[in-house]
Amino acid sequence: MPIDPAPRPIHIAPSVLPADFSKMGDELKAVADAGADRIHWDVMDGQFVPNMTFGPAMIAACRNAVDLPFEAHLMVNTPEVLLSEYIDAGCQLITIHAESTIHLHRCLSQINEGGSRAAVTIVPSTPLSAIEHVLDLVDMVLIMTVNPGFGGQAYLASQEAKVADLRRTIVERGLDVDIEVDGGIAPTTIGAATASGANVFVAGSALFRDPAGLAHAIEELRTKAEAAQAGVHAA
Ligand code: DX5
Ligand code: ZN
Repeated sequence: MPIDPAPRPIHIAPSVLPADFSKMGDELKAVADAGADRIHWDVMDGQFVPNMTFGPAMIAACRNAVDLPFEAHLMVNTPEVLLSEYIDAGCQLITIHAESTIHLHRCLSQINEGGSRAAVTIVPSTPLSAIEHVLDLVDMVLIMTVNPGFGGQAYLASQEAKVADLRRTIVERGLDVDIEVDGGIAPTTIGAATASGANVFVAGSALFRDPAGLAHAIEELRTKAEAAQAGVHAA
């Protein structure tokens, strides 16, 4: 596998899905104080996935709680309908599921034109071929390592080959694109995910359930990812 000329920065992106929604602002402050690099909002509409969470109004209400970048993972049908509201809510990055819209190219272009950064994501059963014609429009690709809809699921190691193939394509095409993984990311799985080529990591339950606290959990993930990345680049 061709290795990047330079390792990409490791980012930890806590999912606020496990947070206490009744005090989301305080929860964000705790996550920021614990060393998170960005906030991952898991937006669900009860249609694209069998769960419902929050929308642009919640994100907008929390925008001034922390300075961290917000990324919205839109697990919704027809994301183009409310796209501008996520941009107006203060999301620096918006992630669209390739499976959620016919006009994926136009949707990603709309995000860029609206002033936010665009990302695309695919569920475990979707091949990379579904996104090969939009890689030039995105700053990041999210490879789901669970079937979307819920936190606390088991990590799907089967997705590591997809991550490695994607990293190879990105390097070969000379693109400046991060790879994010999301679902079941924990101290026991982040090393393999990093070695396969990911550099941005969403974690929810592994952070909020750590008895040693959020800062310990984030630091442990970061340390393990950096060690794995160093191992790959040293090889
Ligand atoms: C699932 C969400 C993930 C999930 C991650 O649809 O996209 O962000 O909340 O949660 P954990 O880290 O608990 O698997
Ligand atoms: Zn997510």
